[in-house]
Amino acid sequence: MDTVKLTTSEHDLERAAKLLRQGELVAFPTETVYGLGANALDAEAVKRIFAAKGRPSDNPLIVHIASRQQLAELVTHVPEAAERLIDLFWPGPLTLLLPKRSEVPDRVTAGLPTVAIRMPSHPAALHLLEKSGVPVAAPSANRSGRPSPTEAAHVLEDLQGEVAAVVDGGTTGIGVESTVLDVTVNPPMILRPGGVTREMLQQAIGQVQEDPSLRSRSADLDPSQAGEASDTANEPVPRAPGMKYRHYAPKAEMWIVEGEEDEQRKRIQALVDQSRANGIQTGVLTTEEQKHLYHADLVIACGRRSEPETVAGELYRALRQFDQTPVQRIYAESFPETGLGAAIMNRMRKAAGYRVVS
Ligand code: TXA
Ligand code: MG
Repeated sequence: MDTVKLTTSEHDLERAAKLLRQGELVAFPTETVYGLGANALDAEAVKRIFAAKGRPSDNPLIVHIASRQQLAELVTHVPEAAERLIDLFWPGPLTLLLPKRSEVPDRVTAGLPTVAIRMPSHPAALHLLEKSGVPVAAPSANRSGRPSPTEAAHVLEDLQGEVAAVVDGGTTGIGVESTVLDVTVNPPMILRPGGVTREMLQQAIGQVQEDPSLRSRSADLDPSQAGEASDTANEPVPRAPGMKYRHYAPKAEMWIVEGEEDEQRKRIQALVDQSRANGIQTGVLTTEEQKHLYHADLVIACGRRSEPETVAGELYRALRQFDQTPVQRIYAESFPETGLGAAIMNRMRKAAGYRVVS
């Protein structure tokens, strides 16, 4: 099957909506990353998402909707805190876990009693959802384990021939996936940091907790790759099944270097020099402000340190870019974990397989 490339025109979105209704897979842009969509109420179509991505079947999907009416058809109850968050942040990059109705196929939720739901704010996504008339299950449109796609070209890189169509809406805005928040517990718990930050949630509903596994070192590693991570015994298991898989990873071995800005930079340069002296092709993942200060085999900047939105926006593109070069090792700068920085560092740690120089 050839993948049809579509634009965001009315006519093309109609075509994409029709494909979804027919049980086909359609990749489409959202304000976070591109999604790989299928009719969420069609278990056979949903099954194809897992096959196309090579995604483990125990990892549940997010259901995308265009209206409050659709929400009522998918969940049994919406707690008060969730109502407030919906009013404030939908449409937008906030996914809520809610108790599911039996109409939602188990394949979507991997058998869990909750379903993850979000209303995306990207106009093409919203129009597509409206035109299709069905809720759309959509994980990020990458092959499992690869960085999420922020451009239609990334989708084709990974899934050419596996999906009926891809709607090209240009580069996505936020660049990292939505915040996943479990609102069935009290206080609500962040399972994945994203575009709606912890600070924004706290301001809206007061107390918010965070899945303890987000801060731990090895809980996320595939056991077969855990290697020297010896402290697995008491590690909490992440509550979002997807967070336990190694993810977003470039092919090169990536290290995150911590420390104050100047110190970080000196440390990175020393590590690069040493690595290159050992005959290893070595790159640096940095920001616009500092890129001219390094000597390495390849220096890639993702955004400006002074504007974290730009770093989030370019992170996955930068990781994919390294894959097109012979670089074998990457040293990366780190960022303060406030605001969007929490999501950026979460994804970078996963990409680095938790290799940190501190
Ligand atoms: O921004 C986004 O959220 C993008 C765009 C396409 O909307 N989608 C996305 O989907 O990132 P995906 O499948 O790559 O990530 C969904 C995450 C996974 O970590 C999954 O384990 C978790 O949400 N999740 C989904 N349903 C869940 C549930 N019922 N309980 C716990 N975690 C759940
Ligand atoms: Mg994903």
